[in-house]
Amino acid sequence: MEPKEPKILVVYFSRSGNTESVASLIASKLNADSEKLIEQGTDWEGVWGYLKAGKAAWQETATSIEKLKKNPKDYDLVVIGTPIWAWNMTPAIRSFLTVYKDDLKKVAFFATEGGSGHEKAFKNMETLTGKAPVATAAVLEKEVKKGDTMREKVATLATEIKKALGISSSL
Ligand SMILES: Cc1cc2nc3c(=O)[nH]c(=O)nc-3n(C[C@H](O)[C@H](O)[C@H](O)COP(=O)(O)O)c2cc1C
Repeated sequence: MEPKEPKILVVYFSRSGNTESVASLIASKLNADSEKLIEQGTDWEGVWGYLKAGKAAWQETATSIEKLKKNPKDYDLVVIGTPIWAWNMTPAIRSFLTVYKDDLKKVAFFATEGGSGHEKAFKNMETLTGKAPVATAAVLEKEVKKGDTMREKVATLATEIKKALGISSSL
């Protein structure tokens, strides 16, 4: 009998699509399932929404998120992706980690950002889950638009994740 292939889930939040692009690429590289977090009762659109979003992230607020369709408990590793807001994770990701942290076996983190903030965000995500990530990747907004560097960073992340799960890298 063939050994069972480890199962990977990509969970992410995205307001304007950058983190979604990286999440799709990671999911296809790793043959993983993927789920976008959906918030309830928030509106981050427009200038006012942007300001509220920055304030919520800065104040380390969590928001209400819909129950996931996939169960993170069923996965050997969950890759968690967030845009950087005010040098931190987004409120939706904070909620996800708070609610599901005990269901996460292994984790990897990725972020998209305009310029800086992923170090602090990753540290806070690690503290919240109580688990060190097996791999991390930070992709700049301009790298998402251009493509090449994003693909390189995602390839490196995928290789590190496969190594941590003992998956042959030819897969
Ligand atoms: C409210 C808000 C705050 C942000 N704060 C930061 C920040 O502190 N550092 C940074 O590099 N980029 C910051 N950005 C830029 C986003 O991280 C970047 O555009 C990201 O790729 C957006 O991801 P998305 O398209 O998946 O929503 C911020 C964007 C928003 C909307």
